[in-house]
Amino acid sequence: MDNTDRVLIEVKDLKKYFPVKNKFIGSEKKFVKAVDGVSFDIKKGETFGLVGESGCGKSTLGRSITRLYDVTSGDIFFDGTNIAKFNKKEMKQYNKRMQIIFQDPYSSLNPNMNVEELISEPLLLHTNLSKKERNDKIQSLLEMVGLKKTDMEKFPHEFSGGQCQRIGIARAISTNPEFILCDEPISALDVSIQAQVVNMLEDLQKELGLTYLFVAHDLSMVRHISDRIGVMYLGNIIEISGSNDLYNNPLHPYTKALLSAIPIADPLKAKASQRQIIEGDIPSPIDIPSGCRFHTRCPYAKPMCKESTPQMKQIENGHFVACHLY
Ligand SMILES: Nc1ncnc2c1ncn2[C@@H]1O[C@H](COP(=O)(O)OP(=O)(O)OP(=O)(O)O)[C@@H](O)[C@H]1O
Ligand code: SF4
Ligand SMILES: [Mg+2]
Repeated sequence: MDNTDRVLIEVKDLKKYFPVKNKFIGSEKKFVKAVDGVSFDIKKGETFGLVGESGCGKSTLGRSITRLYDVTSGDIFFDGTNIAKFNKKEMKQYNKRMQIIFQDPYSSLNPNMNVEELISEPLLLHTNLSKKERNDKIQSLLEMVGLKKTDMEKFPHEFSGGQCQRIGIARAISTNPEFILCDEPISALDVSIQAQVVNMLEDLQKELGLTYLFVAHDLSMVRHISDRIGVMYLGNIIEISGSNDLYNNPLHPYTKALLSAIPIADPLKAKASQRQIIEGDIPSPIDIPSGCRFHTRCPYAKPMCKESTPQMKQIENGHFVACHLY
């Protein structure tokens, strides 16, 4: 059976607000609206890339979907079940099915644990393997991520950043998850080893039938690894499309500006391309602009953009955009 179009995760109008501590007693309660009404889905076996400027809410969205955070409102259907309001106990079986690979490989590993203990941790929590079975499993996981059996006794500080990320990946795949949130998993690594880690993630995806939400700053890397991409701005996803389509035919003014900021290797092409600089700073997620939240920076803003919030519209097959120009 062809599973390519089966939805694994469906997010509906998801919001995650962080309360701001009030300096003055009696003043109005304010919130950082880090994720502010996001709807999209991730299909089984695909890599969904998530891009956008720093602070736009990518990590908060990923951490809300995997329920590392409690959510403010909205729905998260995982394999058909709404887990948005599940408590810790109810989430236990889903924690096993949804794992996370973090950006900073060092700080995501407990420095006082050796590799055996680090990989045992999720196995002890989520499986009933005997000591012998657990050891066999750890050895095969280390092999899968390109580390050696003799690495079991070593501690995080004895490894390079890339090797630590491999340990993080071994931990993530140890529970046989279906979904992995990859939150900038290569940003902290040397450029020379970034491609190795990405290739390994792609190989593991094929081998284990994994579904990825891949958060990244590096737009060129995201294009390479993603089937579809969502562009995030100030707590919203404003454009979704197939990866190549997004690069060849970006629709939203923000996406166009993001893409024109990617350095082009070919000097002739670089000269011919119009670089668009986005004017102004990203507004505060505490006071989000009215109407289209990009209107304060958009070179095409019309009077209606200030008043009315553009809804996501499908412009072509699978290409969605939220902008009054369409
Ligand atoms: N635990 C928290 N408490 C309060 N505010 C938070 C918290 N986590 C994130 N924020 C705020 O929410 C907004 C979104 O942050 P988030 O880390 O999700 O952005 P991001 O897109 O992942 O950025 P980056 O690319 O820098 O990782 C930011 O304004 C951030 O300051
Ligand atoms: S809705 Fe208006 S302000 Fe927003 S991106 Fe489109 S043109 Fe620009
Ligand atoms: Mg982040």
